[in-house]
Amino acid sequence: MPDNFYEQIKPRLHRRIGREVRVAHRVLDVGCGSCDLVRYLAGSYGQDVTGVDISDGSFPSRRHTAEGSHYHCLKRDAAHLGFAKDESADAVVAMWALHEMAKPGEILQEAHRVLRPGGEIFVVDFPRDSLAQRLWNEDYYQPSEVDALLREAGFEQVQVRLIEREQVMWARGYRPPMAGGERSGPHGRKHTKTEVEE
Ligand SMILES: C[S@@+](CC[C@H](N)C(=O)[O-])C[C@H]1O[C@@H](n2cnc3c(N)ncnc32)[C@H](O)[C@@H]1O
Repeated sequence: MPDNFYEQIKPRLHRRIGREVRVAHRVLDVGCGSCDLVRYLAGSYGQDVTGVDISDGSFPSRRHTAEGSHYHCLKRDAAHLGFAKDESADAVVAMWALHEMAKPGEILQEAHRVLRPGGEIFVVDFPRDSLAQRLWNEDYYQPSEVDALLREAGFEQVQVRLIEREQVMWARGYRPPMAGGERSGPHGRKHTKTEVEE
């Protein structure tokens, strides 16, 4: 695998995330870095997209896409999203960021608070023992650990799978609807499983 493997697949992951969240109106990207995904989503789907990052060092100076859609990049700790009201997002995304976050449990709980009932979270990260480990030698999660973190934060119908030749972990979960509401999510899955995509 080439050392620029992750740079090569990044646009493909953005498109994949875009397809998943395209019907969401309000999207929050936690650990947005240089706001590339935020810009892509705002430009492709005209969504109301907000990125937060604990550092604004990579933020772009321009905050609108070539198509004129506006987006927001805010310097915030994703564990404390005071600016975001309860249930104010339809989808939350964390791409290549959870492993860097000091308090992943608090961050996922905060994402859960901000998501509307029935809203969905996507966590895309490097799994342990992947190419990323050789390149950057950071601490990465096992799929089972992300599965547990999502469930502990209150997400349901959690699914964790390995994609892109098992070099990327793709996790999703729903914030369940209010008590007495309909079953959460469109698929009605009850069991969690870790899958490897062929
Ligand atoms: C590897 S970068 C990924 C950036 C971007 N999501 C991407 O796909 O290129 C991880 C980012 O997480 C941010 N981060 C780490 N801890 C954070 C926290 N507690 N709250 C918000 N952002 C955080 C870092 O500042 C960094 O920009």
